[in-house]
Amino acid sequence: MTRFLLVSRSAEYESRLRRLIRARLQIVPAEYVTFGAEAVVDKVVGQPRIALLGPLLSFEETKALSESLSARYPGIGLIVVREQRSDLEDWVDGMEIHAVLSPDAADSTNEGLITRLDSWLAVSGRLPDDGEEFIDESEVEEAEGDDVLVALLNPQFERESRPALEETDLDDESEPEAESEPDPAEPEWILPPIAENVRSEVIVVAAPKGGQGKTTTAINLAAGLAEVEPNSVVLVDADVQFGDIANALDLEPHYSLTDVAQAGTDEVALKALLAHHDDDFFVIAAPPSPELADHVTTASLGALLDRLATMFRYVIVDTTPGLGEHTLTALEHATDGVFVTNMTVPSLRALRKEFELLVALNLVPNNRHIVLNFVEKNNGLLRKDAETIIGAQIDVEVPRSTAVVLASNDGVPLIHHDVRDPAAKAIRGVVLRIDPTAVPTRKRIHRKARA
Ligand SMILES: Nc1ncnc2c1ncn2[C@@H]1O[C@H](COP(=O)(O)OP(=O)(O)OP(=O)(O)O)[C@@H](O)[C@H]1O
Ligand SMILES: [Mg+2]
Repeated sequence: MTRFLLVSRSAEYESRLRRLIRARLQIVPAEYVTFGAEAVVDKVVGQPRIALLGPLLSFEETKALSESLSARYPGIGLIVVREQRSDLEDWVDGMEIHAVLSPDAADSTNEGLITRLDSWLAVSGRLPDDGEEFIDESEVEEAEGDDVLVALLNPQFERESRPALEETDLDDESEPEAESEPDPAEPEWILPPIAENVRSEVIVVAAPKGGQGKTTTAINLAAGLAEVEPNSVVLVDADVQFGDIANALDLEPHYSLTDVAQAGTDEVALKALLAHHDDDFFVIAAPPSPELADHVTTASLGALLDRLATMFRYVIVDTTPGLGEHTLTALEHATDGVFVTNMTVPSLRALRKEFELLVALNLVPNNRHIVLNFVEKNNGLLRKDAETIIGAQIDVEVPRSTAVVLASNDGVPLIHHDVRDPAAKAIRGVVLRIDPTAVPTRKRIHRKARA
């Protein structure tokens, strides 16, 4: 019975896979693709569970094959066999495939991936579980230096099948070296797990690099939380030199952080210095000019945040890019860190370095939320890649959207400016992480919506 299908142009690859999978493998030569993908599918005997496509197939051929096979055999697992190339992401975005495997991958890697995909297809209900062993263990060769499992691409498959693989590795005494085999899908460094049940109070929005969306996130977080806790949210612009929250909210505050940080702890005196926003939250603007930042000492900022936490249900703090002394102070006083990054490798790497340093300093807030901003398709990077670089899971993805800039230019929080915009909806995901009851009701949104 055919369990696996290989459509290939490489006799060498065919014989390698044949040796590994034996009788359960049907090979259809890629020459048939010349007559169309359907001609290949017509050659298939039985019900293949997994099809391997390649090597040496073009993008169009692979795409047509994956579509025809999925149509004929719903739920089939699809693996593209291909070198890691710079255009790999285009391939991945262009078709519904589960994984990419290097033609040079060692037998143990091939076996691991195929086993994993096969059991995931059963566990996830895509295909029935027939409980069969299908790879001859005696034929499996150890991984060698050039072994490359390029990528596991289907995020759901990647996520759900990982424990299954780990179990396999543990049980597998015949292959002691397989455990130490580097798995590129596994980050070398992982953000340590978080403490549970810490009530969110002081939420600091930070990023190692500028322009990632900190201010946008902080403003919308304040607006979203104020829907549930009106007048019990304060937004502090601790981007001490160049903070622009007042601008982005079209406010002209009489006082700034310089004044508030020096005002002492009296609640009434403090409240008198805060600006109020129409969306029912308070704002402490950054000093109006950069040189005034010197008046905001870290000690006074820390004391202010602690005091505000006793007066308000939520204190949201926007910060300067990087880990300057004010940002470190804010993080020291935070229950929550919202870390924002865009989807470029330098920004993702910088965030990872920021985490490494914060872990070393023991300054990672108890609750943390990672926001991937400016998300767009076809930028050459997948969420999974971003997570590998950061060494932590991404919690919320916010798409790139012109509505963000329009809202900022109009001085209105995005979530109330363009309720239906995808970025506005996504950013509400950050609000919900802080307060799961902050579900936007019609009443709440319409009361505020201006668009
Ligand atoms: N998802 C998005 N789509 C499109 N534009 C966005 C998005 N997020 C933020 N922007 C825009 O990008 C610019 C930078 O965003 P923002 O000011 O929030 O970043 P920041 O991290 O606070 O920057 P800085 O480091 O300068 O303080 C702004 O013009 C903002 O309107
Ligand atoms: Mg900013």
